[in-house]
Amino acid sequence: MKKVGILTGGGDAPGLNAVIRAVVIRLAVEKHEEYHCIGFIDGWAGLRDNKTVKLEAGKVDSILHEGGTILGTSRTNLYKKPEDVKKAVQNYHQLELDALVAIGGDDTLEIAYYLNRDEGLKAVGVPKTIDNDVMGTDFTFGFWSAVEQATQAIDDLRVTTTSHRRVMVIECMGRHAGWITAYTGLASGADFIAVPERPVHINDIAREVRHCRELGKAHAIVVVAEGASIGGIEPKPRVTKDANGGWKLSDKIERDSFGNVVLKPGEIAEAVATEIEKLTGMETRGIALGHLQRGGAPSAYDRILGTRYGLQAADAVIHGHFGHMVVLQGLRVETVPMKGMIRENQSEAKRYKYLPDSFLDMAEVFYG
Ligand code: F6P
Repeated sequence: MKKVGILTGGGDAPGLNAVIRAVVIRLAVEKHEEYHCIGFIDGWAGLRDNKTVKLEAGKVDSILHEGGTILGTSRTNLYKKPEDVKKAVQNYHQLELDALVAIGGDDTLEIAYYLNRDEGLKAVGVPKTIDNDVMGTDFTFGFWSAVEQATQAIDDLRVTTTSHRRVMVIECMGRHAGWITAYTGLASGADFIAVPERPVHINDIAREVRHCRELGKAHAIVVVAEGASIGGIEPKPRVTKDANGGWKLSDKIERDSFGNVVLKPGEIAEAVATEIEKLTGMETRGIALGHLQRGGAPSAYDRILGTRYGLQAADAVIHGHFGHMVVLQGLRVETVPMKGMIRENQSEAKRYKYLPDSFLDMAEVFYG
Protein backbone atom coordinates (compact mmCIF):
# COMPACT_ATOMS: atom_id res chain seq x y z
CA MET A 1 0.00 0.00 0.00
CA LYS A 2 1.40 3.42 -0.98
CA LYS A 3 0.55 6.65 0.77
CA VAL A 4 0.15 10.03 -0.96
CA GLY A 5 -0.22 13.41 0.76
CA ILE A 6 -2.11 16.28 -0.87
CA LEU A 7 -2.05 19.95 0.14
CA THR A 8 -3.40 23.26 -1.15
CA GLY A 9 -1.37 26.42 -0.49
CA GLY A 10 -1.65 30.18 -1.10
CA GLY A 11 -4.82 32.08 -1.94
CA ASP A 12 -7.73 29.75 -2.68
CA ALA A 13 -9.04 29.41 -6.23
CA PRO A 14 -12.18 27.78 -7.61
CA GLY A 15 -11.22 24.33 -8.93
CA LEU A 16 -8.98 23.23 -6.05
CA ASN A 17 -11.53 20.62 -5.01
CA ALA A 18 -11.71 19.32 -8.58
CA VAL A 19 -7.96 18.61 -8.44
CA ILE A 20 -8.15 16.91 -5.02
CA ARG A 21 -11.07 14.75 -6.22
CA ALA A 22 -9.32 13.71 -9.43
CA VAL A 23 -6.04 12.79 -7.68
CA VAL A 24 -7.81 10.70 -5.02
CA ILE A 25 -10.15 8.92 -7.43
CA ARG A 26 -7.46 8.25 -10.05
CA LEU A 27 -5.17 6.71 -7.42
CA ALA A 28 -8.04 4.70 -5.94
CA VAL A 29 -8.72 2.99 -9.28
CA GLU A 30 -5.06 2.27 -10.04
CA LYS A 31 -4.79 -1.45 -10.74
CA HIS A 32 -1.07 -2.18 -10.27
CA GLU A 33 -0.66 -0.74 -6.81
CA GLU A 34 -2.91 0.11 -3.90
CA TYR A 35 -2.81 3.80 -2.92
CA HIS A 36 -4.36 5.72 -0.13
CA CYS A 37 -4.46 9.51 0.21
CA ILE A 38 -4.30 11.90 3.11
CA GLY A 39 -4.77 15.67 3.03
CA PHE A 40 -2.70 18.23 4.93
CA ILE A 41 -4.72 20.94 6.64
CA ASP A 42 -3.94 24.56 5.65
CA GLY A 43 -1.15 24.01 3.16
CA TRP A 44 2.48 23.70 4.22
CA ALA A 45 1.44 24.46 7.83
CA GLY A 46 -0.31 21.07 7.84
CA LEU A 47 2.85 19.21 6.84
CA ARG A 48 4.93 21.16 9.38
CA ASP A 49 2.42 20.58 12.21
CA ASN A 50 1.38 17.09 11.13
CA LYS A 51 -2.30 17.99 10.75
CA THR A 52 -3.90 15.52 8.41
CA VAL A 53 -7.26 14.23 7.28
CA LYS A 54 -8.17 11.02 5.44
CA LEU A 55 -9.19 11.44 1.81
CA GLU A 56 -11.42 8.68 0.49
CA ALA A 57 -12.72 8.35 -3.06
CA GLY A 58 -16.36 7.95 -1.91
CA LYS A 59 -16.20 11.13 0.18
CA VAL A 60 -14.45 13.41 -2.32
CA ASP A 61 -16.65 12.41 -5.23
CA SER A 62 -19.20 15.13 -4.47
CA ILE A 63 -16.88 18.16 -4.08
CA LEU A 64 -16.34 18.93 -7.77
CA HIS A 65 -18.78 21.85 -7.88
CA GLU A 66 -17.64 23.44 -4.59
CA GLY A 67 -15.43 26.55 -4.56
CA GLY A 68 -12.56 27.02 -2.08
CA THR A 69 -10.67 24.01 -0.77
CA ILE A 70 -11.89 21.28 1.57
CA LEU A 71 -8.34 21.09 3.00
CA GLY A 72 -8.00 24.74 3.95
CA THR A 73 -5.04 26.82 2.88
CA SER A 74 -2.48 29.31 4.19
CA ARG A 75 0.44 31.37 2.96
CA THR A 76 3.07 29.48 4.97
CA ASN A 77 6.66 29.87 3.83
CA LEU A 78 8.53 26.93 5.41
CA TYR A 79 11.81 28.42 4.24
CA LYS A 80 11.49 31.44 6.54
CA LYS A 81 12.58 29.19 9.43
CA PRO A 82 15.05 26.28 9.00
CA GLU A 83 13.29 24.41 11.84
CA ASP A 84 10.01 24.47 9.87
CA VAL A 85 11.66 22.73 6.92
CA LYS A 86 13.11 20.15 9.35
CA LYS A 87 9.71 19.49 10.92
CA ALA A 88 8.04 19.15 7.53
CA VAL A 89 10.67 16.66 6.32
CA GLN A 90 10.44 14.68 9.58
CA ASN A 91 6.65 14.45 9.31
CA TYR A 92 6.86 13.37 5.67
CA HIS A 93 9.08 10.44 6.73
CA GLN A 94 7.18 9.61 9.91
CA LEU A 95 3.95 9.40 7.95
CA GLU A 96 5.78 7.10 5.49
CA LEU A 97 4.64 9.09 2.51
CA ASP A 98 5.47 7.82 -0.95
CA ALA A 99 4.56 11.08 -2.68
CA LEU A 100 3.27 14.58 -2.09
CA VAL A 101 0.99 16.53 -4.43
CA ALA A 102 1.30 20.28 -3.81
CA ILE A 103 -1.42 22.39 -5.42
CA GLY A 104 -0.69 26.10 -5.45
CA GLY A 105 0.74 29.18 -7.10
CA ASP A 106 4.39 30.03 -7.59
CA ASP A 107 5.03 30.31 -3.82
CA THR A 108 3.68 26.82 -3.05
CA LEU A 109 5.35 25.29 -6.10
CA GLU A 110 8.68 26.85 -5.19
CA ILE A 111 8.60 25.15 -1.78
CA ALA A 112 7.67 21.82 -3.40
CA TYR A 113 10.60 22.25 -5.79
CA TYR A 114 13.14 22.93 -2.99
CA LEU A 115 11.81 20.06 -0.85
CA ASN A 116 12.27 17.73 -3.79
CA ARG A 117 15.65 19.08 -4.89
CA ASP A 118 17.27 19.49 -1.46
CA GLU A 119 15.42 17.04 0.82
CA GLY A 120 14.48 14.33 -1.65
CA LEU A 121 10.74 14.54 -0.97
CA LYS A 122 8.77 13.04 -3.83
CA ALA A 123 6.78 16.10 -4.80
CA VAL A 124 4.53 16.77 -7.80
CA GLY A 125 3.20 20.30 -8.42
CA VAL A 126 -0.16 21.49 -9.74
CA PRO A 127 -0.37 25.18 -10.76
CA LYS A 128 -3.22 27.24 -9.32
CA THR A 129 -4.08 30.91 -9.04
CA ILE A 130 -6.87 33.18 -10.16
CA ASP A 131 -4.10 35.56 -11.29
CA ASN A 132 -2.95 33.20 -14.11
CA ASP A 133 0.64 34.37 -13.69
CA VAL A 134 2.41 31.02 -13.13
CA MET A 135 5.17 30.32 -15.65
CA GLY A 136 4.99 27.37 -18.00
CA THR A 137 1.24 26.86 -18.20
CA ASP A 138 -1.22 28.55 -20.54
CA PHE A 139 -3.89 28.73 -17.84
CA THR A 140 -4.09 28.08 -14.15
CA PHE A 141 -7.47 26.88 -12.89
CA GLY A 142 -9.41 29.51 -10.97
CA PHE A 143 -8.64 32.20 -13.54
CA TRP A 144 -11.72 31.71 -15.71
CA SER A 145 -14.02 31.51 -12.67
CA ALA A 146 -12.60 34.82 -11.43
CA VAL A 147 -13.12 36.38 -14.87
CA GLU A 148 -16.74 35.14 -14.87
CA GLN A 149 -17.36 36.62 -11.41
CA ALA A 150 -15.78 39.95 -12.27
CA THR A 151 -17.55 40.19 -15.64
CA GLN A 152 -20.90 39.51 -13.99
CA ALA A 153 -20.15 42.20 -11.40
CA ILE A 154 -19.29 44.77 -14.09
CA ASP A 155 -22.45 43.92 -16.06
CA ASP A 156 -24.40 44.65 -12.87
CA LEU A 157 -22.45 47.86 -12.17
CA ARG A 158 -23.01 49.11 -15.70
CA VAL A 159 -26.75 49.44 -14.91
CA THR A 160 -26.31 51.88 -12.04
CA THR A 161 -23.39 53.64 -13.76
CA THR A 162 -25.55 54.38 -16.81
CA SER A 163 -28.55 55.54 -14.77
CA HIS A 164 -26.38 58.13 -13.02
CA ARG A 165 -24.31 59.00 -16.12
CA ARG A 166 -21.22 58.29 -14.06
CA VAL A 167 -17.74 56.96 -14.49
CA MET A 168 -17.09 53.69 -12.63
CA VAL A 169 -13.56 52.61 -11.74
CA ILE A 170 -13.46 48.88 -10.99
CA GLU A 171 -10.43 47.27 -9.36
CA CYS A 172 -9.64 43.63 -10.11
CA MET A 173 -7.08 41.37 -8.41
CA GLY A 174 -3.63 40.97 -9.93
CA ARG A 175 -0.60 42.25 -8.07
CA HIS A 176 2.01 41.39 -10.62
CA ALA A 177 0.10 40.64 -13.79
CA GLY A 178 -3.06 42.02 -15.38
CA TRP A 179 -4.69 38.85 -16.71
CA ILE A 180 -7.97 39.11 -14.77
CA THR A 181 -8.25 42.84 -15.44
CA ALA A 182 -7.61 42.58 -19.16
CA TYR A 183 -9.83 39.56 -19.80
CA THR A 184 -12.63 40.99 -17.65
CA GLY A 185 -12.21 44.38 -19.29
CA LEU A 186 -12.52 42.91 -22.76
CA ALA A 187 -15.47 40.68 -21.75
CA SER A 188 -17.36 43.59 -20.21
CA GLY A 189 -16.66 46.17 -22.93
CA ALA A 190 -14.50 48.42 -20.73
CA ASP A 191 -13.55 51.89 -21.94
CA PHE A 192 -10.08 51.71 -20.39
CA ILE A 193 -7.95 48.89 -18.96
CA ALA A 194 -4.92 49.56 -16.73
CA VAL A 195 -2.54 46.74 -15.78
CA PRO A 196 0.93 46.43 -14.20
CA GLU A 197 2.54 45.44 -17.51
CA ARG A 198 1.75 48.67 -19.35
CA PRO A 199 2.42 51.87 -17.38
CA VAL A 200 -0.04 54.68 -18.16
CA HIS A 201 -0.70 58.19 -16.85
CA ILE A 202 -3.97 59.31 -15.26
CA ASN A 203 -4.28 61.85 -18.13
CA ASP A 204 -4.54 58.91 -20.58
CA ILE A 205 -7.50 57.55 -18.64
CA ALA A 206 -9.15 60.98 -18.34
CA ARG A 207 -8.82 61.48 -22.10
CA GLU A 208 -10.61 58.19 -22.83
CA VAL A 209 -13.32 58.99 -20.31
CA ARG A 210 -13.98 62.39 -21.94
CA HIS A 211 -14.03 60.67 -25.31
CA CYS A 212 -16.83 58.39 -24.07
CA ARG A 213 -18.92 61.48 -23.28
CA GLU A 214 -18.13 63.01 -26.68
CA LEU A 215 -19.40 59.85 -28.31
CA GLY A 216 -22.64 60.24 -26.38
CA LYS A 217 -22.10 57.29 -24.05
CA ALA A 218 -23.99 57.61 -20.78
CA HIS A 219 -21.24 55.90 -18.81
CA ALA A 220 -17.54 55.12 -18.81
CA ILE A 221 -16.16 51.88 -17.40
CA VAL A 222 -12.52 51.86 -16.30
CA VAL A 223 -11.03 48.55 -15.12
CA VAL A 224 -7.76 48.70 -13.18
CA ALA A 225 -5.63 45.93 -11.73
CA GLU A 226 -4.78 46.29 -8.06
CA GLY A 227 -1.12 46.41 -9.12
CA ALA A 228 -1.68 48.71 -12.14
CA SER A 229 1.02 51.23 -12.89
CA ILE A 230 -0.67 54.64 -13.14
CA GLY A 231 1.33 57.84 -13.05
CA GLY A 232 -0.09 61.09 -11.67
CA ILE A 233 -1.94 59.57 -8.69
CA GLU A 234 -1.12 58.63 -5.12
CA PRO A 235 0.00 55.90 -4.34
CA LYS A 236 2.87 56.32 -6.75
CA PRO A 237 3.19 53.60 -9.40
CA ARG A 238 5.49 50.76 -8.41
CA VAL A 239 6.36 50.11 -12.03
CA THR A 240 8.02 52.72 -14.26
CA LYS A 241 9.29 52.60 -17.80
CA ASP A 242 13.04 52.38 -18.21
CA ALA A 243 15.19 53.98 -20.91
CA ASN A 244 15.08 50.86 -23.15
CA GLY A 245 11.30 50.70 -23.28
CA GLY A 246 11.19 47.93 -20.63
CA TRP A 247 9.98 48.46 -17.09
CA LYS A 248 11.44 48.43 -13.61
CA LEU A 249 10.08 48.19 -10.11
CA SER A 250 10.51 50.81 -7.43
CA ASP A 251 12.40 49.41 -4.42
CA LYS A 252 10.08 50.98 -1.83
CA ILE A 253 7.47 48.25 -2.04
CA GLU A 254 6.02 46.40 0.93
CA ARG A 255 6.35 42.64 0.48
CA ASP A 256 5.08 39.52 2.27
CA SER A 257 7.19 36.54 3.41
CA PHE A 258 7.29 35.22 -0.17
CA GLY A 259 8.36 38.58 -1.62
CA ASN A 260 4.90 39.27 -3.05
CA VAL A 261 3.87 42.90 -3.25
CA VAL A 262 1.37 43.81 -0.47
CA LEU A 263 -1.44 46.10 -1.67
CA LYS A 264 -4.42 47.67 0.11
CA PRO A 265 -7.68 46.55 -1.53
CA GLY A 266 -9.55 49.50 -3.04
CA GLU A 267 -6.67 51.93 -2.77
CA ILE A 268 -6.01 52.27 -6.48
CA ALA A 269 -9.71 52.33 -7.46
CA GLU A 270 -10.32 55.15 -5.02
CA ALA A 271 -7.24 57.10 -6.11
CA VAL A 272 -8.11 56.81 -9.81
CA ALA A 273 -11.78 57.72 -9.20
CA THR A 274 -10.87 60.84 -7.22
CA GLU A 275 -8.43 62.03 -9.85
CA ILE A 276 -10.75 61.30 -12.80
CA GLU A 277 -13.52 63.33 -11.18
CA LYS A 278 -11.09 66.23 -10.69
CA LEU A 279 -9.76 66.08 -14.25
CA THR A 280 -13.05 65.55 -16.12
CA GLY A 281 -15.65 67.07 -13.82
CA MET A 282 -17.66 63.87 -14.28
CA GLU A 283 -19.14 62.15 -11.23
CA THR A 284 -16.99 59.06 -10.56
CA ARG A 285 -17.13 56.12 -8.17
CA GLY A 286 -14.49 53.52 -7.35
CA ILE A 287 -15.07 49.92 -6.25
CA ALA A 288 -12.79 46.95 -5.55
CA LEU A 289 -14.20 43.52 -6.43
CA GLY A 290 -11.68 42.03 -3.99
CA HIS A 291 -12.12 38.50 -2.70
CA LEU A 292 -15.47 38.08 -4.47
CA GLN A 293 -13.30 37.14 -7.44
CA ARG A 294 -12.08 34.05 -5.56
CA GLY A 295 -15.56 33.15 -4.33
CA GLY A 296 -18.42 31.08 -5.67
CA ALA A 297 -18.48 27.81 -7.56
CA PRO A 298 -15.82 26.95 -10.14
CA SER A 299 -16.82 27.53 -13.78
CA ALA A 300 -17.23 24.44 -15.98
CA TYR A 301 -13.86 25.26 -17.57
CA ASP A 302 -12.09 25.25 -14.19
CA ARG A 303 -13.80 22.04 -13.09
CA ILE A 304 -12.52 20.38 -16.25
CA LEU A 305 -9.03 21.91 -16.10
CA GLY A 306 -8.74 21.02 -12.38
CA THR A 307 -9.86 17.47 -13.17
CA ARG A 308 -7.33 17.14 -16.01
CA TYR A 309 -4.53 18.50 -13.82
CA GLY A 310 -5.50 16.13 -10.98
CA LEU A 311 -5.52 13.07 -13.27
CA GLN A 312 -2.15 14.04 -14.75
CA ALA A 313 -0.66 14.65 -11.29
CA ALA A 314 -1.84 11.22 -10.12
CA ASP A 315 -0.23 9.69 -13.21
CA ALA A 316 3.00 11.56 -12.41
CA VAL A 317 2.92 9.94 -8.95
CA ILE A 318 2.27 6.47 -10.40
CA HIS A 319 5.10 6.83 -12.93
CA GLY A 320 7.51 8.42 -10.45
CA HIS A 321 7.82 11.82 -12.16
CA PHE A 322 8.81 13.68 -9.01
CA GLY A 323 10.17 17.21 -9.07
CA HIS A 324 7.72 17.73 -11.94
CA MET A 325 4.57 19.77 -12.32
CA VAL A 326 1.58 19.47 -14.62
CA VAL A 327 0.86 22.25 -17.11
CA LEU A 328 -1.55 23.14 -19.91
CA GLN A 329 0.22 23.69 -23.20
CA GLY A 330 -2.20 24.41 -25.99
CA LEU A 331 -4.83 21.68 -25.81
CA ARG A 332 -2.63 19.19 -23.96
CA VAL A 333 -1.93 18.71 -20.27
CA GLU A 334 1.74 17.75 -19.90
CA THR A 335 4.14 16.87 -17.08
CA VAL A 336 7.29 19.02 -17.08
CA PRO A 337 10.25 19.44 -14.68
CA MET A 338 9.63 22.15 -12.08
CA LYS A 339 13.16 23.39 -12.63
CA GLY A 340 12.89 26.13 -15.18
CA MET A 341 9.26 26.86 -14.32
CA ILE A 342 10.04 27.98 -10.81
CA ARG A 343 11.13 31.54 -10.15
CA GLU A 344 14.27 30.37 -8.28
CA ASN A 345 16.74 33.28 -8.26
CA GLN A 346 14.84 34.98 -11.06
CA SER A 347 14.55 38.73 -11.42
CA GLU A 348 11.04 40.16 -10.98
CA ALA A 349 10.66 40.58 -14.72
CA LYS A 350 11.14 36.82 -15.23
CA ARG A 351 9.29 35.50 -12.20
CA TYR A 352 5.78 35.74 -13.49
CA LYS A 353 3.90 35.02 -16.67
CA TYR A 354 2.85 38.44 -17.91
CA LEU A 355 0.02 39.48 -20.16
CA PRO A 356 1.21 39.82 -23.76
CA ASP A 357 1.23 43.33 -25.22
CA SER A 358 -0.87 42.14 -28.15
CA PHE A 359 -3.81 41.49 -25.85
CA LEU A 360 -3.84 45.11 -24.67
CA ASP A 361 -3.50 46.37 -28.24
CA MET A 362 -6.60 44.38 -29.11
CA ALA A 363 -8.56 45.78 -26.14
CA GLU A 364 -7.60 49.34 -27.13
CA VAL A 365 -9.50 49.01 -30.40
CA PHE A 366 -12.68 49.28 -28.33
CA TYR A 367 -11.74 52.25 -26.13
CA GLY A 368 -13.99 55.32 -26.11
O1 F6P B 1 -2.84 35.07 -5.06
C1 F6P B 1 -3.98 35.52 -5.62
C2 F6P B 1 -4.53 36.76 -4.96
O2 F6P B 1 -5.91 36.62 -5.12
C3 F6P B 1 -4.01 38.07 -5.52
O3 F6P B 1 -4.56 38.47 -6.72
C4 F6P B 1 -4.33 39.01 -4.40
O4 F6P B 1 -3.54 40.16 -4.43
C5 F6P B 1 -4.03 38.18 -3.20
O5 F6P B 1 -4.25 36.84 -3.57
C6 F6P B 1 -4.84 38.51 -1.98
O6 F6P B 1 -4.37 37.72 -0.95
P1 F6P B 1 -5.06 37.53 0.45
O7 F6P B 1 -6.21 36.59 0.28
O8 F6P B 1 -3.98 36.97 1.29
O9 F6P B 1 -5.54 38.89 0.88
